[in-house]
Amino acid sequence: MGEITNVTEYQAIAKEKLPKMVYDYYASGAEDQWTLAENRNAFSRILFRPRILIDVSKIDMTTTVLGFKISMPIMIAPTAMQKMAHPDGEYATARAASAAGTIMTLSSWATSSVEEVASTGPGIRFFQLYVYKDRNVVAQLVRRAERAGFKAIALTVDTPRLGRRESDIKNRFVLPPGLTLKNFEGLDLGKMDEANDSGLASYVAGQIDRTLSWKDVKWLQSITSMPILVKGVLTAEDARIAVQSGAAGIIVSNHGARQLDYVPSTIMALEEVVKGAQGRIPVFLDGGVRRGTDVFKALALGAAGIFIGRPVVFSLASEGEAGVRKVLQMLRDEFELTMALSGCRSLSEITRNHVVTEWDAPRGLPSARL
Ligand code: FNR
Repeated sequence: MGEITNVTEYQAIAKEKLPKMVYDYYASGAEDQWTLAENRNAFSRILFRPRILIDVSKIDMTTTVLGFKISMPIMIAPTAMQKMAHPDGEYATARAASAAGTIMTLSSWATSSVEEVASTGPGIRFFQLYVYKDRNVVAQLVRRAERAGFKAIALTVDTPRLGRRESDIKNRFVLPPGLTLKNFEGLDLGKMDEANDSGLASYVAGQIDRTLSWKDVKWLQSITSMPILVKGVLTAEDARIAVQSGAAGIIVSNHGARQLDYVPSTIMALEEVVKGAQGRIPVFLDGGVRRGTDVFKALALGAAGIFIGRPVVFSLASEGEAGVRKVLQMLRDEFELTMALSGCRSLSEITRNHVVTEWDAPRGLPSARL
């Protein structure tokens, strides 16, 4: 294989390198995987309306997320169990994010603890939270994350039960020997038992709190001063409730198409969520972002930034920290080029009129919404 020139190429390399059980866990979506394909396909229904003859000799991609200045609106989504991809696991991801000047979100189900990730050095980090039935476990973990310097909680709200990922069932997915869900090790919840189906699905069924509701967002606010991002909103209705519940932000996410199949792609759900949030809190997006053009499209449709999931685990599997660095650099370079070729010099210059979507003019030719 020659030089890697785009983010997607890491997937094939990871497939070669990883045991089938691990690769399938990273790559899969739920059931028919319709939403998995749709998360990518939908981006191709959005085209550009580039503006010309604008001096683009200086491009500023910096932005501020929850008050934290970062180098670009491209951040790292929480993906579980990164040491299955590479022995350096979450350490490598944390270092790569930090070097790129952007935010890493650490999964509750990381194979490295919040303290271990903090020990890699400075960096702006968020902690993704799964709410366990045992609220003492949750409260302790949130406190540990805060003490370790994490800056926000991304509360995952789309997983009262685990989506049906058929390859995990066929492979009898379970955490490989030697690895644990490090954040829960001392709490006696770090192991995943083998099951007759997916070991992870059984773990979730046993430990995760299905009663989770909006009142728990208030509860979380009562136990931490970290701002809370609600991760997994797909409708305007829920965006409004998130605002009312005191969320600091929303992440439009379908969990990388791993939960409810046949939900729309996140890029198609984005605008209604942005409308529901009414500019009161920032709206972010994850799902299927693989190109700088995708980043630009998300921002044009109202996102304040995006997160990437699979590109991190695939590049980690291929080249460790260097791979994750390269993914962030490639996306950054592509996004900068997209801005230049669209005539945008800063993120605030990216507008709805820089794109036209299939749903703007369903029957006619693409036209602007001026
Ligand atoms: C995830 N995702 C996820 N989300 C979460 O809230 N907690 C988690 O532990 C995980 N773990 C996880 C593992 C793997 C292998 C994947 C692919 C995804 C979902 C993740 O945060 C994000 O929503 C999606 O990955 C975004 O889509 P892309 O970029 O993978 O297409």
